[in-house]
Amino acid sequence: MKIGIVVHSQTGNTCEVAQKLWEKLSASGNEVEIQRVKMMGGDKPQGKDIKIENPPDVGKYDALIFGAPVHAFSLAPAMKVYMEQVASLQDKKVACFVTKAMRFNWTGGTRAVGQMKGICLNKGAVISGTGIVVWNKQRDEKIAEMVEEFGRLFDL
Ligand SMILES: Cc1cc2nc3c(=O)[nH]c(=O)nc-3n(C[C@H](O)[C@H](O)[C@H](O)COP(=O)(O)O)c2cc1C
Repeated sequence: MKIGIVVHSQTGNTCEVAQKLWEKLSASGNEVEIQRVKMMGGDKPQGKDIKIENPPDVGKYDALIFGAPVHAFSLAPAMKVYMEQVASLQDKKVACFVTKAMRFNWTGGTRAVGQMKGICLNKGAVISGTGIVVWNKQRDEKIAEMVEEFGRLFDL
């Protein structure tokens, strides 16, 4: 399967997870690419009017994994802007994950993943999995668990 892992990351955490997913999915025989969603003006918190530099094209992938940080209890604005401008995800298998710093449930993870799911469903995707990684001492176990789960979802 041709899989795109499309991530936005400002301090590297989400990219680190993407790399682990890449290793797992490549090892099981998929053709996997990581694509970064980058902001014009640099990947840092910005105000309104965010523009995306070279938005990754999802058309060539059979399946996609979208990943992003939680910002201000929501999906990071750059990822929201990017995902909303994706033309179509019709019948593509999609999984979404976020990374975040605060462990409490009300600090944006569920909301951010829900936003990602909503956008993907609107564009015709078939959602197969979601994940939330809290960037604390237990993160390695959580990442390993999610990588295993997503590995099963995208098993050839
Ligand atoms: C502007 C900003 C807002 C953030 N807001 C939240 C938040 O609401 N909830 C949370 O759990 N973490 C929040 N964080 C922490 C990030 O989600 C967390 O560090 C994430 O893993 C960063 O991913 P990255 O390294 O891929 O950019 C925020 C970070 C920044 C820079």
